[in-house]
Parts: sequence; C-alpha cells; structure tokens
Amino acid sequence: IEHRPLYGKHVLVTAGPTHEPIDPVRYLANRSSGKQGFAIAAAAAAAGARVTLVTGPVHLRTPLGVDRIDVESAEEMARAVRESLPVDAAIMAAAVADWRTKEYNDIKIKKRGAAPPALVLAENPDILASVAANPKRPELLIGFAAETNDVVDNARKKRKSKGCDWIVANDVSGDVMGGDNNQVHLVKEGKVEHWDPMTKQDVATRLIQEIAEKLSVDA
Ligand code: C5P
Repeated sequence: IEHRPLYGKHVLVTAGPTHEPIDPVRYLANRSSGKQGFAIAAAAAAAGARVTLVTGPVHLRTPLGVDRIDVESAEEMARAVRESLPVDAAIMAAAVADWRTKEYNDIKIKKRGAAPPALVLAENPDILASVAANPKRPELLIGFAAETNDVVDNARKKRKSKGCDWIVANDVSGDVMGGDNNQVHLVKEGKVEHWDPMTKQDVATRLIQEIAEKLSVDA
C-alpha cells in the first residue's frame, strides 16, 4: 500500500499543446512540450493508479503502464476527456489553445496577389471548467496556470473561476516551457504552498504524493 498509494484509483491527465487546423497543411499551436503532464502520468502509474493520458501532439514516449489517447485539437481533447470520465482525480496540464480558426479550409489556402488571408478565430471550449461542471466531476480536480506575472494572485482567481480544487501555478517568465525544470506554487482553498525550483519529474512525484494523501483522507 505504501509504495502504491494510488492503487485502485483512476487518474486522468491532459498534456501537451493542441493544434488547431487552418487548412490541411497548416495549424495554430503553442510551445508546450508535454513534459510536465507526461511526468505526472508516469508518477501516477508508478504510484499504482490506472492512468488515462489525453495528449496533444508531442515528441515523448508513453510512460510505462499508461493508457494514452492522442488528439490534435481542443475539441478532440474535450471529447476524449468527457468520454474518459468518471475518474477519481483529473490533472489538466495541457496547454489548450484558446482559439481555433472559425472556419477550416478543406483545401490548402493559396497565396493570392497582395492581400494575405485574414484568420477569423473562435473561442475553444474550456475543458477544465466543463469537467468541473460535469455531473461526473472527479473527486479531486486540478488545473494548471502558466503565468508570467502576479502568479499566485492570478492562480487564486483561476481556481475559483474554473471551479477546480487545486491550481498548480507555474512561473513561465523564464525557460520553463520546453525545459526540464519548473517552479510552482500549489494553490488550494485558503492555502498556498510555495515549492522550490525542481525538475518536472520531482514536481510530478510530489504532486502525486499530495493527491494520494488527499484521496485517502477523504476516502
Ligand atoms: O484559462 P487558462 O488557459 O489560463 O487555464 C489553464 C488551465 O485550464 C489548465 O489546467 C488548462 O489545461 C485548462 N484549460 C482547459 N481548456 C481550455 C483552456 C485551459 O482545460 N480551453
């Protein structure tokens, strides 16, 4: 039990960026590498959980013992997440694109004369907020907040507005995105833990320990 504190629990993790298609050869994306989410999935599996990892396009190996679902766009990620419920805990580490193109061109857009095409964008579904509002809401729902300024303050507001239990706030003003290290603050209800800078693997291990403690206290 001590070495597999999540035995019998089902944990859902989202990771990576999303790619929002413009036409068959082009997309909108962001710099997320997926490393933090994959490290969390690996740590959850090592702790004995059944793990479902819903990931956008990344160049990472599937951690041992993890069920991986590959998606491209935010809408595909939203569907895969919905279909993976119910779970005991969900950790939403994906850097979901805020916008997609309003209209997908099913043939390649051509360069035409002087005027470049105008991209019209539409807002993507907020996956974290919709899991929070789902009748199958997990017992423990954790979001991420990548911030460059007022990190903890913004994370506190985000915890409330998204309806999740904890927010892992990371300061991405440095080279966190794509890098191997992370500096996080764990924002809970009425309490914030400031963690020292450490590797994304260590962040994952520590987060999984806290999740295991929380699920066993509430069990
Ligand atoms: O709103 P913002 O992108 O700052 O919120 C970050 C948190 O919300 C992350 O946990 C991210 O995975 C989640 N999110 C989401 N769907 C979106 C946007 C963000 O699940 N469309």
